[in-house]
Amino acid sequence: MIPLVEVLTKTEAYLRSRGIPSPRFEAEQLLAHALGIERLQIYLQHDRPLGEEELGRLRPMVARRGKREPLAWILGTVGFHALELAVTPGVLVPRPDTETLVEAALAWIPENDDEPVYVADVGCGTGAVGLAIAAARPQVRVFSIDIGEAPLACTRENVKRLGLEQRVAVLRGPLLGPVPPQRPIDWVVSNPPYIPTADLARCEPEVSEWEPKLALDGGGDGLDIYRQLVPEAARRARKGLLLEVGIRQAPHVKRLLDEHGFVDVSTHDDLGGIPRVVTGRLRP
Ligand SMILES: C[S@@+](CC[C@H](N)C(=O)[O-])C[C@H]1O[C@@H](n2cnc3c(N)ncnc32)[C@H](O)[C@@H]1O
Repeated sequence: MIPLVEVLTKTEAYLRSRGIPSPRFEAEQLLAHALGIERLQIYLQHDRPLGEEELGRLRPMVARRGKREPLAWILGTVGFHALELAVTPGVLVPRPDTETLVEAALAWIPENDDEPVYVADVGCGTGAVGLAIAAARPQVRVFSIDIGEAPLACTRENVKRLGLEQRVAVLRGPLLGPVPPQRPIDWVVSNPPYIPTADLARCEPEVSEWEPKLALDGGGDGLDIYRQLVPEAARRARKGLLLEVGIRQAPHVKRLLDEHGFVDVSTHDDLGGIPRVVTGRLRP
C-alpha cells in the first residue's frame, strides 16, 4: 500500500523525465481518472493508501503518456467549447484555438430563430465544430463529414452522447462530396489539415508521432485542401464559408476567397492574437 500523495509525486517526476510540459497537472488528471474521482479529491484524500488494483489501473495510463501519446486519448474525453466530447486514438484532439471558428459561426447564425440553418462541417474529427454549433443553436442541422473511419465513429459516438441524432448527419467522403446535390448547405465550416508536410516532423511528439497525418498534413505549403474546398464551397454554399488556418496562412486563404467571389472576407484572431479563422459570405 502506497499513500496517494506519494504516487502523485512519483507520477509527476516520471512525466517530467519524459518531457511532459505540465507534469503535475497531468499526473493529477491521470490519477483522478484511474481512481474515478474528481481532481480536488486527490488533495482531500492525499494520505489514502492505494491498493494493487488501483495502481494496476494507473500504471498503463502513465506508461502511455510517458510515450507521449496524447493525454485526451488516454482519458477518453476532452472539453471543447461548452461540450465534453469523446475522443479516441486515431482522431485529432480538438484544440482551444478551434473555438474561434465556432464563435465566428455563432456570430453569423442568429439566436432565437426558427428557420433551419444547414451547416456542413468538413473534416469533422470528433465532430467538435459542427456539434458545438448545433448545441448552441437549436435551428441548426449539421452534415458532419470526414474521410477517416475513426473520426466518423467518434463523431457518431458524440452525436449520441449529446442527443443530437435528429439534427446531425454523419457522412463519409471527401470535402462536400457526400452531401446529396439536392440538399441545401448554408454555411461551410472547416478546420482542415493545414500543416506543411516538412513542418510536421518538427511538431511536438504528440503531433508528429501520434496524431494522424490525414488530420494534419496540408501538403507542401499546407494549403492543398483550401485550394479544393474554397471553389467547392463557392458552388455549393448559399451563405458563406468559415475556415480555420495555420500560422501565416490567413493572407493566402483570404486571397482564395476573394478570387472565388466571397465578399466581406475577414480574419479573426485566436486568444493568442494569431489570425486563426478566415470567413467570407456569398451574395444572395
Ligand atoms: C485538423 S482535423 C480537424 C478535426 C476537427 N474538425 C477539429 O477541429 O478538431 C482534420 C480532419 O479532416 C479530415 N480530412 C482530411 N482530408 C479530408 C477530406 N479531403 N475530406 C474530408 N475530411 C478530410 C481528417 O480525417 C481529420 O479528421
